[in-house]
Amino acid sequence: MASCPPAPAPASSTGPWRIEVLTIFPQLVQGYASTALLARAQAAGVLDLRVHDLRHGADDPRRSVDDAPFGGGAGMVLAPEPIARVVETVQPRRPLILLSPAGRRLDQGLVEELARLGLPDAPGFSLLCGRYEGVDQRVVEALVDQELSIGDYVLAGGELAALVVLEAVARLLPGVLGNEASPLEESFSRGLLEYPQYTRPATWRGRAVPPVLLSGDHGRVARWRAAMALWRTQQRRPDLLAARGGLTPAEQALLDELPELTGAEPPPPSGAGSSGESDPGEGSGGVPLG
Ligand SMILES: C[S@@+](CC[C@H](N)C(=O)[O-])C[C@H]1O[C@@H](n2cnc3c(N)ncnc32)[C@H](O)[C@@H]1O
Repeated sequence: MASCPPAPAPASSTGPWRIEVLTIFPQLVQGYASTALLARAQAAGVLDLRVHDLRHGADDPRRSVDDAPFGGGAGMVLAPEPIARVVETVQPRRPLILLSPAGRRLDQGLVEELARLGLPDAPGFSLLCGRYEGVDQRVVEALVDQELSIGDYVLAGGELAALVVLEAVARLLPGVLGNEASPLEESFSRGLLEYPQYTRPATWRGRAVPPVLLSGDHGRVARWRAAMALWRTQQRRPDLLAARGGLTPAEQALLDELPELTGAEPPPPSGAGSSGESDPGEGSGGVPLG
Protein backbone atom coordinates (compact mmCIF):
# COMPACT_ATOMS: atom_id res chain seq x y z
CA MET A 1 0.00 0.00 0.00
CA ALA A 2 2.40 2.65 -1.15
CA SER A 3 1.08 6.17 -0.93
CA CYS A 4 -0.77 7.10 -4.14
CA PRO A 5 -2.57 10.27 -5.19
CA PRO A 6 -6.32 9.99 -4.60
CA ALA A 7 -8.10 8.61 -7.63
CA PRO A 8 -11.39 6.90 -8.36
CA ALA A 9 -11.51 3.13 -8.44
CA PRO A 10 -10.83 1.63 -11.85
CA ALA A 11 -13.67 1.50 -14.33
CA SER A 12 -13.20 -2.17 -15.11
CA SER A 13 -11.18 -5.15 -13.99
CA THR A 14 -10.33 -8.67 -14.96
CA GLY A 15 -12.27 -10.52 -12.29
CA PRO A 16 -14.13 -10.35 -8.97
CA TRP A 17 -12.42 -8.64 -6.07
CA ARG A 18 -11.49 -11.34 -3.63
CA ILE A 19 -11.62 -10.14 -0.06
CA GLU A 20 -10.96 -12.68 2.68
CA VAL A 21 -11.68 -12.21 6.35
CA LEU A 22 -10.04 -14.31 9.07
CA THR A 23 -11.94 -14.21 12.36
CA ILE A 24 -13.02 -16.26 15.36
CA PHE A 25 -16.58 -14.98 14.73
CA PRO A 26 -17.29 -15.67 11.05
CA GLN A 27 -21.04 -15.35 11.62
CA LEU A 28 -20.62 -11.68 12.55
CA VAL A 29 -19.10 -10.92 9.16
CA GLN A 30 -21.33 -13.25 7.14
CA GLY A 31 -24.49 -11.89 8.78
CA TYR A 32 -23.82 -8.29 7.84
CA ALA A 33 -22.49 -9.19 4.41
CA SER A 34 -25.62 -11.17 3.54
CA THR A 35 -27.76 -8.02 3.25
CA ALA A 36 -27.88 -4.83 1.19
CA LEU A 37 -24.83 -3.60 -0.69
CA LEU A 38 -22.39 -6.38 0.20
CA ALA A 39 -24.96 -9.03 -0.71
CA ARG A 40 -25.65 -7.29 -4.02
CA ALA A 41 -21.95 -7.04 -4.82
CA GLN A 42 -21.55 -10.77 -4.24
CA ALA A 43 -24.68 -11.68 -6.19
CA ALA A 44 -23.45 -9.57 -9.11
CA GLY A 45 -20.14 -11.44 -9.12
CA VAL A 46 -18.17 -8.26 -8.40
CA LEU A 47 -17.11 -9.32 -4.91
CA ASP A 48 -15.82 -12.75 -3.92
CA LEU A 49 -16.02 -12.63 -0.12
CA ARG A 50 -14.43 -15.54 1.75
CA VAL A 51 -14.71 -15.75 5.52
CA HIS A 52 -12.40 -18.13 7.41
CA ASP A 53 -12.86 -19.35 10.97
CA LEU A 54 -9.62 -19.05 12.94
CA ARG A 55 -10.84 -21.79 15.27
CA HIS A 56 -10.22 -24.24 12.44
CA GLY A 57 -6.54 -23.74 13.28
CA ALA A 58 -6.96 -24.96 16.85
CA ASP A 59 -5.87 -28.52 17.67
CA ASP A 60 -7.60 -29.18 21.00
CA PRO A 61 -11.18 -30.38 21.54
CA ARG A 62 -12.23 -26.96 22.84
CA ARG A 63 -10.78 -25.28 19.75
CA SER A 64 -8.86 -22.79 21.88
CA VAL A 65 -7.37 -19.83 20.08
CA ASP A 66 -6.24 -17.65 22.99
CA ASP A 67 -3.97 -17.77 26.00
CA ALA A 68 -2.87 -15.57 28.91
CA PRO A 69 -0.32 -12.85 28.17
CA PHE A 70 3.32 -13.43 29.09
CA GLY A 71 4.29 -10.94 31.78
CA GLY A 72 0.81 -11.03 33.29
CA GLY A 73 -1.98 -8.51 32.97
CA ALA A 74 -5.63 -8.48 32.09
CA GLY A 75 -7.28 -10.35 29.26
CA MET A 76 -6.17 -12.95 26.77
CA VAL A 77 -4.15 -12.86 23.57
CA LEU A 78 -4.86 -14.66 20.26
CA ALA A 79 -2.17 -17.34 20.06
CA PRO A 80 0.08 -17.53 16.99
CA GLU A 81 -0.21 -21.17 15.94
CA PRO A 82 -3.96 -21.36 15.15
CA ILE A 83 -3.68 -18.20 13.07
CA ALA A 84 -0.59 -19.49 11.25
CA ARG A 85 -2.29 -22.81 10.46
CA VAL A 86 -5.30 -21.10 8.92
CA VAL A 87 -3.14 -18.69 6.93
CA GLU A 88 -0.99 -21.55 5.62
CA THR A 89 -4.04 -23.66 4.78
CA VAL A 90 -6.21 -21.10 3.01
CA GLN A 91 -3.37 -18.98 1.56
CA PRO A 92 -5.46 -15.79 1.74
CA ARG A 93 -5.07 -13.19 -0.94
CA ARG A 94 -2.24 -10.82 -0.16
CA PRO A 95 -1.69 -8.33 1.32
CA LEU A 96 -2.87 -9.71 4.64
CA ILE A 97 -4.00 -6.70 6.66
CA LEU A 98 -4.37 -6.85 10.44
CA LEU A 99 -7.10 -4.67 11.94
CA SER A 100 -5.39 -2.91 14.81
CA PRO A 101 -5.61 0.39 16.69
CA ALA A 102 -1.86 0.65 15.98
CA GLY A 103 -2.32 0.59 12.19
CA ARG A 104 -2.48 3.27 9.53
CA ARG A 105 -5.71 5.15 10.01
CA LEU A 106 -8.42 4.57 7.42
CA ASP A 107 -9.60 7.47 5.29
CA GLN A 108 -11.11 7.73 1.82
CA GLY A 109 -7.67 7.94 0.22
CA LEU A 110 -6.70 4.63 1.80
CA VAL A 111 -10.04 3.11 0.78
CA GLU A 112 -9.24 4.06 -2.83
CA GLU A 113 -5.80 2.46 -2.51
CA LEU A 114 -7.38 -0.73 -1.17
CA ALA A 115 -9.83 -0.78 -4.09
CA ARG A 116 -6.88 -0.90 -6.49
CA LEU A 117 -4.85 -3.61 -4.72
CA GLY A 118 -3.81 -6.53 -6.88
CA LEU A 119 -5.09 -5.10 -10.14
CA PRO A 120 -5.30 -6.31 -12.81
CA ASP A 121 -4.62 -10.00 -12.23
CA ALA A 122 -5.49 -10.68 -8.59
CA PRO A 123 -7.61 -7.84 -7.19
CA GLY A 124 -8.28 -7.96 -3.49
CA PHE A 125 -6.72 -8.37 -0.07
CA SER A 126 -7.35 -10.11 3.26
CA LEU A 127 -8.32 -8.86 6.69
CA LEU A 128 -7.22 -10.48 9.95
CA CYS A 129 -9.48 -9.68 12.91
CA GLY A 130 -8.01 -9.53 16.39
CA ARG A 131 -9.98 -10.15 19.60
CA TYR A 132 -9.36 -9.89 23.34
CA GLU A 133 -6.10 -7.98 23.91
CA GLY A 134 -5.05 -8.51 20.30
CA VAL A 135 -2.82 -10.99 18.46
CA ASP A 136 0.61 -12.28 19.46
CA GLN A 137 3.16 -9.82 18.05
CA ARG A 138 5.04 -12.63 16.28
CA VAL A 139 2.01 -13.11 14.03
CA VAL A 140 2.37 -9.49 12.96
CA GLU A 141 6.06 -10.00 12.22
CA ALA A 142 5.76 -13.36 10.45
CA LEU A 143 2.43 -13.25 8.60
CA VAL A 144 0.98 -9.76 8.36
CA ASP A 145 1.76 -7.31 5.55
CA GLN A 146 0.04 -4.17 6.85
CA GLU A 147 -1.87 -2.91 9.89
CA LEU A 148 -4.98 -0.77 9.58
CA SER A 149 -6.99 1.17 12.16
CA ILE A 150 -10.48 2.54 11.57
CA GLY A 151 -10.02 5.32 14.12
CA ASP A 152 -8.67 6.38 17.47
CA TYR A 153 -10.93 4.29 19.67
CA VAL A 154 -10.91 0.65 20.77
CA LEU A 155 -13.43 -1.95 19.62
CA ALA A 156 -13.86 -5.39 21.17
CA GLY A 157 -12.73 -7.07 17.97
CA GLY A 158 -11.68 -6.54 14.37
CA GLU A 159 -14.94 -7.74 12.80
CA LEU A 160 -16.72 -4.36 12.78
CA ALA A 161 -13.53 -2.76 11.51
CA ALA A 162 -13.32 -5.37 8.74
CA LEU A 163 -16.91 -4.64 7.74
CA VAL A 164 -16.22 -0.92 7.64
CA VAL A 165 -13.31 -1.56 5.29
CA LEU A 166 -15.30 -4.05 3.22
CA GLU A 167 -18.27 -1.77 2.68
CA ALA A 168 -16.20 1.32 1.97
CA VAL A 169 -14.17 -0.58 -0.64
CA ALA A 170 -17.10 -2.50 -2.13
CA ARG A 171 -19.04 0.65 -2.94
CA LEU A 172 -16.12 1.83 -5.09
CA LEU A 173 -16.03 -1.34 -7.17
CA PRO A 174 -17.43 -0.96 -10.69
CA GLY A 175 -21.05 -2.02 -10.95
CA VAL A 176 -21.81 -2.04 -7.22
CA LEU A 177 -23.50 1.35 -6.96
CA GLY A 178 -26.40 2.11 -9.26
CA ASN A 179 -24.97 5.47 -10.19
CA GLU A 180 -21.38 4.87 -11.32
CA ALA A 181 -20.49 8.54 -11.04
CA SER A 182 -21.63 9.10 -7.49
CA PRO A 183 -18.43 8.13 -5.59
CA LEU A 184 -16.65 10.99 -7.36
CA GLU A 185 -19.12 13.47 -5.91
CA GLU A 186 -19.08 12.20 -2.36
CA SER A 187 -17.46 13.53 0.75
CA PHE A 188 -13.66 13.16 0.89
CA SER A 189 -13.26 11.99 -2.70
CA ARG A 190 -11.89 15.41 -3.71
CA GLY A 191 -10.73 16.50 -0.29
CA LEU A 192 -14.09 18.17 0.32
CA LEU A 193 -17.33 17.39 2.10
CA GLU A 194 -20.32 16.86 -0.14
CA TYR A 195 -22.95 19.54 -0.75
CA PRO A 196 -26.31 19.08 1.08
CA GLN A 197 -28.95 16.88 -0.54
CA TYR A 198 -32.72 17.43 -0.75
CA THR A 199 -35.70 15.46 -2.04
CA ARG A 200 -39.44 16.03 -2.28
CA PRO A 201 -41.48 17.79 -1.02
CA ALA A 202 -40.04 21.15 -2.04
CA THR A 203 -41.35 22.61 1.21
CA TRP A 204 -41.41 20.40 4.28
CA ARG A 205 -42.84 21.68 7.57
CA GLY A 206 -42.20 25.22 6.51
CA ARG A 207 -38.65 24.58 5.31
CA ALA A 208 -38.08 25.25 1.61
CA VAL A 209 -35.25 23.76 -0.41
CA PRO A 210 -32.81 26.31 -1.86
CA PRO A 211 -34.61 27.89 -4.87
CA VAL A 212 -31.67 27.20 -7.20
CA LEU A 213 -32.46 23.46 -7.03
CA LEU A 214 -35.89 24.11 -8.54
CA SER A 215 -34.59 26.43 -11.27
CA GLY A 216 -33.99 23.75 -13.89
CA ASP A 217 -30.70 25.51 -14.70
CA HIS A 218 -28.21 22.63 -14.55
CA GLY A 219 -25.15 24.86 -14.81
CA ARG A 220 -26.33 26.97 -11.91
CA VAL A 221 -27.16 23.90 -9.83
CA ALA A 222 -23.68 22.50 -10.49
CA ARG A 223 -22.07 25.78 -9.43
CA TRP A 224 -24.20 25.98 -6.29
CA ARG A 225 -23.27 22.40 -5.36
CA ALA A 226 -19.58 23.05 -5.93
CA ALA A 227 -19.77 26.24 -3.89
CA MET A 228 -21.71 24.55 -1.09
CA ALA A 229 -19.13 21.76 -0.92
CA LEU A 230 -16.42 24.40 -0.46
CA TRP A 231 -18.46 26.37 2.06
CA ARG A 232 -19.38 23.35 4.15
CA THR A 233 -15.80 22.12 4.19
CA GLN A 234 -14.57 25.57 5.19
CA GLN A 235 -17.09 25.69 8.04
CA ARG A 236 -16.80 22.17 9.35
CA ARG A 237 -13.48 20.72 8.24
CA PRO A 238 -10.96 23.47 7.56
CA ASP A 239 -8.26 20.81 8.09
CA LEU A 240 -9.38 19.17 4.82
CA LEU A 241 -9.02 22.45 2.95
CA ALA A 242 -5.63 23.09 4.51
CA ALA A 243 -4.45 19.61 3.47
CA ARG A 244 -5.20 20.41 -0.18
CA GLY A 245 -3.45 23.77 0.02
CA GLY A 246 -6.43 26.02 0.76
CA LEU A 247 -8.77 27.56 -1.79
CA THR A 248 -7.71 28.34 -5.33
CA PRO A 249 -8.64 31.80 -6.68
CA ALA A 250 -11.37 30.16 -8.76
CA GLU A 251 -12.79 28.42 -5.70
CA GLN A 252 -12.75 31.66 -3.71
CA ALA A 253 -14.62 33.33 -6.57
CA LEU A 254 -17.19 30.56 -6.52
CA LEU A 255 -17.62 30.97 -2.77
CA ASP A 256 -18.11 34.72 -3.23
CA GLU A 257 -20.85 33.92 -5.71
CA LEU A 258 -22.69 31.62 -3.28
CA PRO A 259 -25.31 34.06 -1.88
CA GLU A 260 -26.35 35.00 -5.39
CA LEU A 261 -26.39 31.36 -6.53
CA THR A 262 -28.47 30.22 -3.57
CA GLY A 263 -31.24 32.75 -4.06
CA ALA A 264 -31.36 36.02 -2.18
CA GLU A 265 -33.12 35.01 1.00
CA PRO A 266 -31.76 35.92 4.40
CA PRO A 267 -30.43 33.20 6.69
CA PRO A 268 -32.88 31.93 9.33
CA PRO A 269 -32.87 33.66 12.70
CA SER A 270 -30.30 32.21 15.07
CA GLY A 271 -31.64 29.31 17.12
CA ALA A 272 -34.15 28.36 14.41
CA GLY A 273 -32.42 25.02 13.76
CA SER A 274 -33.11 22.10 16.05
CA SER A 275 -29.45 21.50 16.93
CA GLY A 276 -28.37 25.11 16.89
CA GLU A 277 -25.44 24.24 14.64
CA SER A 278 -27.04 23.63 11.24
CA ASP A 279 -25.59 25.19 8.13
CA PRO A 280 -27.45 28.35 7.20
CA GLY A 281 -27.93 27.09 3.65
CA GLU A 282 -29.39 23.73 4.62
CA GLY A 283 -33.00 22.75 4.99
CA SER A 284 -34.16 26.33 5.23
CA GLY A 285 -33.65 27.95 1.87
CA GLY A 286 -31.32 30.33 3.69
CA VAL A 287 -28.13 31.69 2.22
CA PRO A 288 -24.67 30.74 3.44
CA LEU A 289 -22.90 34.04 3.39
CA GLY A 290 -19.49 32.43 3.68
C1 LIG B 1 -9.85 -4.92 22.39
S1 LIG B 1 -8.97 -4.73 20.91
C2 LIG B 1 -7.32 -4.82 21.44
C3 LIG B 1 -6.80 -3.49 21.84
C4 LIG B 1 -5.33 -3.54 22.25
N1 LIG B 1 -5.17 -4.18 23.52
C5 LIG B 1 -4.81 -2.13 22.33
O1 LIG B 1 -4.87 -1.53 23.40
O2 LIG B 1 -4.40 -1.59 21.29
C6 LIG B 1 -9.22 -6.26 20.11
C7 LIG B 1 -9.12 -6.21 18.59
O3 LIG B 1 -10.10 -5.33 18.07
C8 LIG B 1 -9.65 -4.78 16.86
N2 LIG B 1 -9.74 -3.33 16.97
C9 LIG B 1 -10.06 -2.61 18.07
N3 LIG B 1 -10.07 -1.30 17.81
C10 LIG B 1 -9.75 -1.16 16.51
C11 LIG B 1 -9.60 -0.04 15.66
N4 LIG B 1 -9.75 1.20 16.09
N5 LIG B 1 -9.28 -0.27 14.37
C12 LIG B 1 -9.10 -1.53 13.91
N6 LIG B 1 -9.24 -2.62 14.67
C13 LIG B 1 -9.55 -2.45 15.96
C14 LIG B 1 -8.23 -5.28 16.64
O4 LIG B 1 -8.26 -6.36 15.75
C15 LIG B 1 -7.82 -5.70 18.01
O5 LIG B 1 -6.84 -6.71 17.99
